[in-house]
Amino acid sequence: MASTDRKHANVEDEPVFPIRRERGLAPTYLCLFQEFWCPDLFIEGVKSFQKCFEAKDSDVVVASFPKTGTTWLIALTFATVNRKHFSAENHPLLTSNPHTLVSCLESKIFFVDEIHDPLLHLSNMLEPRLFSTHTPFTALPKSLNESNAKIIYICRNPFDTFLSAWIYFNKLMLKPLPALELEEAFEMFCDGRVIFGPWWSHMLGYWKESLARPNKVLFLKYEDLKENVNFHVKSIAEFLGCPFTAEEESDGDIESIMKLCSFEKMKDLEVNVSGKLDKFIDNKLFFRKGEIGDWVNYFSPSMITKLSKVIEEKLSGSGLSF
Ligand code: A3P
Repeated sequence: MASTDRKHANVEDEPVFPIRRERGLAPTYLCLFQEFWCPDLFIEGVKSFQKCFEAKDSDVVVASFPKTGTTWLIALTFATVNRKHFSAENHPLLTSNPHTLVSCLESKIFFVDEIHDPLLHLSNMLEPRLFSTHTPFTALPKSLNESNAKIIYICRNPFDTFLSAWIYFNKLMLKPLPALELEEAFEMFCDGRVIFGPWWSHMLGYWKESLARPNKVLFLKYEDLKENVNFHVKSIAEFLGCPFTAEEESDGDIESIMKLCSFEKMKDLEVNVSGKLDKFIDNKLFFRKGEIGDWVNYFSPSMITKLSKVIEEKLSGSGLSF
């Protein structure tokens, strides 16, 4: 089939499974699809991504579980990869939200609508192409796994991930869904019924692949990034095959990237104060507190015990811990 024929691939030719549509920690209904909780609005986008995406060896994909530091990692990766093209004073990250510069594969590029052509969009992109995705590793298109494209994954302590998700998704809730109370959202999170969840399978999918193929998947944690941004920006550059030279290091190029992408800098930029990503999302929603441990202000002792148990149960033996 010619590539243009596969635009907006619908899946008439794929088997139809009964899809459960349920309420979960998300701004829309979730469907249990290919063993993960996919927002109903994005199912066609995920299918189209799986069916039509042709990876290039130079592609870079920032993958994450929602609310774990995606925006920050996208900004750091974009600034690192494109450091030769832009000066600190005239940088696109000063006037564009990171999600505008690096589009999400399932929710933007392959989002099925009448007005844009994903394959045309992809064919017009300069290399290396940078993308983001929340799709679990096991549901990524074959072509992405089989190519030499690189994946950088970020995850976060589930306590802070939950809190950030609860606050964010309540602000985005699509009518007629009512906002979720803390306790009901927490039960959903502990059951794994959360957008792109279960969160443990999401993390473990990328975690295992990063152990099996360290040149394919770089696995990062928000907390580690916070502790030593400089070290991780260097490791991102090395992983992507564009290490900083001694001269770049002594010129302070890593520090410039860290500063440009810092929470304090990004959240006060005009584009992130009053801009919109699309008709639903205000850019300012991506920047809340940017701290580790805010969950202590919200969790009861029984919530702490319960989530600690789930983490222990789901991650034990994997080598991944928080
Ligand atoms: P909080 O809600 O805990 O503040 P995502 O980008 O995956 O949606 O994650 C959002 C979380 O990352 C939010 O956490 C947000 O404040 C934080 N964040 C956004 N930009 C950041 C940055 N440049 N540095 C550190 N944290 C950032």
